[in-house]
Amino acid sequence: MDHFLYRDGVLHAEDIPLPDLSAQTGTPFYVYSAATLTRHFRLFDEALEGMEHLVCYAVKANSNLAVLRLLGGLGAGADVVSGGEYRKARAAGIPGERIVFSGVGKTREEMRLALGEGIRQFNVESEPEMEALNAVALSMGTRAPVALRINPDVDAKTHAKISTGKSENKFGIPISRAGSTYAAAAALPGLEVVGIDMHIGSQLTDLAPFEQAYTKLAALTRTLRGDGHRIVRLDLGGGLGIPYERSNSAPPLPVEYGHMVRRVLGDTGCEILIEPGRLIAGNAGVLVARVIYVKHGEDRDFLILDAAMNDLIRPAMYDAHHDIVPVVEPEPGGDSVTYDVVGPVCETGDTFARQRRLKPLKEGDLVAFRSAGAYGAVMASEYNSRPLVPEVLVSGDHSAVIRARPSFEEMLNRDTIPEWL
Ligand code: LLP
Repeated sequence: MDHFLYRDGVLHAEDIPLPDLSAQTGTPFYVYSAATLTRHFRLFDEALEGMEHLVCYAVKANSNLAVLRLLGGLGAGADVVSGGEYRKARAAGIPGERIVFSGVGKTREEMRLALGEGIRQFNVESEPEMEALNAVALSMGTRAPVALRINPDVDAKTHAKISTGKSENKFGIPISRAGSTYAAAAALPGLEVVGIDMHIGSQLTDLAPFEQAYTKLAALTRTLRGDGHRIVRLDLGGGLGIPYERSNSAPPLPVEYGHMVRRVLGDTGCEILIEPGRLIAGNAGVLVARVIYVKHGEDRDFLILDAAMNDLIRPAMYDAHHDIVPVVEPEPGGDSVTYDVVGPVCETGDTFARQRRLKPLKEGDLVAFRSAGAYGAVMASEYNSRPLVPEVLVSGDHSAVIRARPSFEEMLNRDTIPEWL
């Protein structure tokens, strides 16, 4: 459930009509619902009730400081994958002891930053990274808390570009090498082994791959404890999917995920960390755009919007589906028409939807892309020199611009022409 509903035929973000926000902000823009973010965080938190746990929101899904402040205020920790994300989480008030650091390519500078300012654990993804972290920790006279990310070789059955738990993916340490790698980690004086980490992919719509992976995790926990390692924490990663198409059957709910986790891992007695991103932020945001033209092609009609692939890249990058809905509901009845929904960027890939059935739209009409709160604004670029889209947060009848649209002046000032040109 989200808080983007029609009232009197007009789509609202909580209590605010989207045409009002459009008039203030200009299109295109992202708008997020605080109530939806809150609800989704709590669903996860409650799903793990009874087990010692921490929900570490995956910052990459939506890293706006206001979003991080809101979630941090509810008790969320953060899963970060760069020094930038670490700094953002801290700037939003999330304490270091609630932050886990993931990613295959952490630099020594990033390790130093997190070790210096506080970190719950590093999710270490390779032997060379382990050596580097050991050296950095020793040079700082400290020990780094680590979980090794283990690649369980499980097919997450999701889009190939966001599947991470197969042996051919770049992530984690092969499960076949887990024993020897833990032994090597235990021998490094700058590391303190605290647990095991896994993340098998994103937008999973079935619990079975999670269960397969976590069953391997439970067995590995027993083996490693048998070898004398102190395993007190299991990080299960993120990945639970969301319903992008309202017409499709819904993916499992956090509560069902929680039951499975309790069943498979409950008797380990470990603290459970999870790293959900998409399920918290995805349906908490929409991208609002305006129709610039309706163009009649040879064999199809193009709905040309003022949003483009640089603002929301998921359709171009993953052939992802986003429901596109009119902000003002058309009169009931009347035929639907078929459009290719496109942006103004000069690439054929700048297509949001092919042959999409919609009620007729005309120049100036507003549309909303649903489920755009995760991996939307964060993946935006200024390709075609289109300024980054602004972001707005709504709570009840309050709204605030949480990232302003840069002016063209700011954009121009970012580049420098050397004096010798
Ligand atoms: N933890 C780790 C280590 C991850 O790599 C990810 C996502 C997450 C947690 C959060 O996964 P989530 O709960 O959001 O599924 N840009 C793509 C998604 C990339 C996901 C990358 N890793 C998209 O737009 O679909």
